[in-house]
Amino acid sequence: MDDIDFAYSGEKLTLKNVTLDIRNPQLISIIGPNGVGKSTLIHCMNKILSPTRGTVFVDDIDVSQIKVKELAKKIGYVPYSANDTFPLTVIDTILMGRNPHSTWKTDLKDDMKIVKEVLEMMDIVPLAMRPFNELSAGQHQRVMLARGLAQEPEILLLDEPTANLDIKHQIDVIRLLKKLSIKKNIVVIMISHDLNLAAKYSDNIIMMADGGVFAVGTPKDVITEDNIRSVYGVEAELVEHDGRPHMIIIDSDFTEEDSKTLEGSYVLGEILHKRCSGEES
Ligand SMILES: Nc1ncnc2c1ncn2[C@@H]1O[C@H](COP(=O)(O)OP(=O)(O)O)[C@@H](O)[C@H]1O
Ligand SMILES: [Mg+2]
Repeated sequence: MDDIDFAYSGEKLTLKNVTLDIRNPQLISIIGPNGVGKSTLIHCMNKILSPTRGTVFVDDIDVSQIKVKELAKKIGYVPYSANDTFPLTVIDTILMGRNPHSTWKTDLKDDMKIVKEVLEMMDIVPLAMRPFNELSAGQHQRVMLARGLAQEPEILLLDEPTANLDIKHQIDVIRLLKKLSIKKNIVVIMISHDLNLAAKYSDNIIMMADGGVFAVGTPKDVITEDNIRSVYGVEAELVEHDGRPHMIIIDSDFTEEDSKTLEGSYVLGEILHKRCSGEES
């Protein structure tokens, strides 16, 4: 991305002077508070939005010059927990990911082989024949991920791919994305709100704040106490584990004493304690 500005019509700039040079296969996380422009940034990458100024290049070609179907072979996109519920089976939904590759001589057998592979990868084989719109939010998300993978892109963009997942599935998905970047030699860029998971698995992190990109670099460079304070207004203490930062929330305005004096939670806590210890039936 070369010196990108972006503004929604009539609004102030959401992205300002954004320059990013992403080359090697890797897992990159985009982090930052709600509403700072994370989704807008990836929408500018895959041509859903056109920057107000500046140029986006893929393989050194200006994306504004690449046809949508051609671009879809290069860039896969998994939107934020898609609420467009297709009346389709899981298999058909994933097959749609093969669309950019289809020509008059496409062999459905080859496509099905890829679909089977991604079903296994995402651990959703038993869901294959289920209607997509009857799945839970977490299952939904894994199917959308599978669809993105079936597209076999060089760059995979994911908008909060772990938002609806339990901790085990979050870890599974992030590990898979990291592995995928190495195994398939691709750039994976995901938006995440979990700083600790992002720090643990990402090669690089893009931290956004109001007005655009605030910091770019390794987790250790970007996830610092100062940056978290500046960008989120949150006090944190960082410990290092396996060479990567791990954030502990420090809320000095809320102590153990406070948690006892907040009447509601104290009273409820007492009742629960009594019930559990058998003092009260
Ligand atoms: N279609 C739109 N039209 C106008 N403003 C929008 C539109 N989509 C998003 N915005 C605004 O642009 C800003 C950035 O949004 P977004 O990129 O979705 O943030 P994030 O993904 O970081 O939460 C927000 O202030 C949001 O309200
Ligand atoms: Mg968003």
